[in-house]
Amino acid sequence: MNTSPAVIALGTRIEATVAAAIRRALPGTEPIDPLVRRGERTDFQANAALALARSAGRPPRELAAAITAEITPDGPIETAEVSGPAFVNLTLADAELWRQTALRLDAGLGLPAPYAGTVTVVDYSAPNVAKRMHVGHLRSTVIGDTLVKLLESLGGTVIRQNHIGDWGTQFGMLIQYLDEHPGTAWHGTADIAVLDGLYRSAAAHFAADAAFADRARSRVVALQAGDEATLAVWRDLVAVSLAAFNKIYRRLDVSLSDVDLDGESVYNPHLDDVVAELTDAGIAVESQGALCVFDERFTGPEGNPIPLILRKSDGGYGYATTDMATLRHRVRELKATRMLYLTDARQALHFAQVFAAGRRAGWIDASHEVVHVPFGTVLGADGRPFKTRSGDTVALTGLLDAAVAGARAVVAAKNPDLDGAALDRIAASTGIGAVKYADLSTARTTDYRFDIERMVSLNGDTGVYLQYAHARLASILRKAGEGETIVDEKAPVNTSERALVLRLDEYAAVLAEAAALNEPHRIATYLFGLAKVFSSFFDRSPVLKAETAALRGNRLALVRLTRLTLHHGLSLLGIDAPERM
Ligand code: ARG
Repeated sequence: MNTSPAVIALGTRIEATVAAAIRRALPGTEPIDPLVRRGERTDFQANAALALARSAGRPPRELAAAITAEITPDGPIETAEVSGPAFVNLTLADAELWRQTALRLDAGLGLPAPYAGTVTVVDYSAPNVAKRMHVGHLRSTVIGDTLVKLLESLGGTVIRQNHIGDWGTQFGMLIQYLDEHPGTAWHGTADIAVLDGLYRSAAAHFAADAAFADRARSRVVALQAGDEATLAVWRDLVAVSLAAFNKIYRRLDVSLSDVDLDGESVYNPHLDDVVAELTDAGIAVESQGALCVFDERFTGPEGNPIPLILRKSDGGYGYATTDMATLRHRVRELKATRMLYLTDARQALHFAQVFAAGRRAGWIDASHEVVHVPFGTVLGADGRPFKTRSGDTVALTGLLDAAVAGARAVVAAKNPDLDGAALDRIAASTGIGAVKYADLSTARTTDYRFDIERMVSLNGDTGVYLQYAHARLASILRKAGEGETIVDEKAPVNTSERALVLRLDEYAAVLAEAAALNEPHRIATYLFGLAKVFSSFFDRSPVLKAETAALRGNRLALVRLTRLTLHHGLSLLGIDAPERM
């Protein structure tokens, strides 16, 4: 949580000035977005005149001039001029740019807290017990964890919920199989690959042997009835899986821990009640022996309604029932005002149906925001679906190992003097960072290729590149030595400094946008752009060998603020920012 006072961005202040000028130039118009953007040949450009001219019935350029005339240069704005067909070009005073830099540095970025007072449940990661985590869970885990940290950094309260798949008919099959194959070596193993094998053997049996399938179904009944011997095996299966999940969470350095667990089994005792409430409200109805919710908005290819099945004809509850329960619990007990559910895009219909039923039940209303946050698929390096040769999902652990090995080679080649321990440490941090960055820098709903060579490249839009950029900033600051940074507001601002100040000042707006759209890639894109802008600043504007002491101080302030911003952004993405590499 940030505690320092927020620093208002220059763009925000200019927007307010232009909006006021529009109101004076066109009294009586509805408030509109003044369309203030960063300009190419000018600091900012306001583009609203074009859109307003039509409704005002005035020539665009004349209207732009009228708006410009209402902008009295003061505060950050030094000049306002009409340009092109109807743009207003705005230039900022040099002193304001330095002042803003000093303010942000003093305030430790000075991020605003637009999410103060909101309580957001983020439902993410959610792997399934007795199966290994796959790349889909990787996406849910890293995107979810970034959204959590992002909302917290903007003042929000977040409740993490890891809805692991720890209940359901598959446990009947697994437990029955173990019962009938007492020699199966799984007990006490911390290796989820063994459980994965167990899952496959049990599933094969279930498919091939009808009598076994019947016994497995009775096991489900025993599990649900609370049979102690059955529950004991179930608990072991969950514990072994959890140990494996936690190992991956620690390796990925995500903020999930056991207190965030909110597995399907937790809801089991409440399902009768959830279903009864929906039935009493007339929302759940009988259909061919099953209990369903119908909604005319959800229809199949032939216009047939697609039901949300709350109770199957055999009396069993399923995934949909449990999710109705998560929704009710999160609103009523957790008092969530916002709920985000992260899964791949294939579950879109499930969540649309669950949310629609929750609205009909009155559990969620206009004061709640409930969103399925879908993401695209991870493909193999060849662009084909990511599967092993035998058609299985690819295990996450092996991919992380491969990424760390790839990063190790790249780092060792760049820095042959690193000793073994330092190389190990940096390889782990860059390898994991590379995987997370590749995922988080891709637009959320886009599929991407898991291409390790590209992920660990030093000269691309990669985590490694940003980590090196950060280490370089840290090294400049080490060379500069300790001491206060004194910003001289009277110094002129050159072009490369200007670009950097303005870019740094956009950070808060980028975070707000990333949070509003649940799009972490906006942070990644920003950081990559920032690193580039810094690079050209550093090429053109000597820092440690600046011409004057005042310039050196001002440029060091920019280096500090850039390091702080990059460090903060990388931490939101859950990527380590080493001081040395
Ligand atoms: N375990 C599910 C899966 O692997 C994801 C659960 C997501 N959360 C939820 N509340 N449905 O697909």
